[in-house]
Amino acid sequence: MKRVVAIYPGSFDPLTNGHLDLIERGSKIFDDLIVAILSNPEKEPLFTLQERTEMLRAMTKQWSNVSVDSFNGLLVEYAREKGAQAVLRGIRAISDYEYELQMALMNRKLEPQLETVFMMPAEQYSYISSRLVKEVFHLGGSVKELVPKVVEEKLYAKVKKR
Ligand code: PNS
Repeated sequence: MKRVVAIYPGSFDPLTNGHLDLIERGSKIFDDLIVAILSNPEKEPLFTLQERTEMLRAMTKQWSNVSVDSFNGLLVEYAREKGAQAVLRGIRAISDYEYELQMALMNRKLEPQLETVFMMPAEQYSYISSRLVKEVFHLGGSVKELVPKVVEEKLYAKVKKR
């Protein structure tokens, strides 16, 4: 039987506990799950592509069917290259829905064979976003239960370097 391959794309700047929750859920329903980091440097990420890759690899090594990669350009092209049938995206609240629907329908227009599958993270993660994690951290708040320990440490290391 054909293996169902899914791509979980995102900026992951940084990886949060919500992302990890979704990766775990995705790893249970897809045969192979590729976590694909958008490497677009125009977005001026806080963490380099290499740093984001390392953190994701460290935190996903427990799931044998999960791999970490990066991409540039159109997601549908990348999915075609990887032979993926699905794109996994998380929906936390109704406010995510409009943006996600727009992306899913655009991707469907570009590649009708590629399905977008939405999953919800556990409710305790429904308010966490990478953007808010960075804001809270920069303003001196605790991000302890929002991101994995390795990410928290890297955040502190970045601040120390400045
Ligand atoms: O974590 P993010 O920033 O919400 O992820 C957004 C992402 C990477 C999924 C989206 O920007 C994307 O797919 N970019 C690739 C470019 C592309 O294919 N654009 C057209 C799709 S609507």
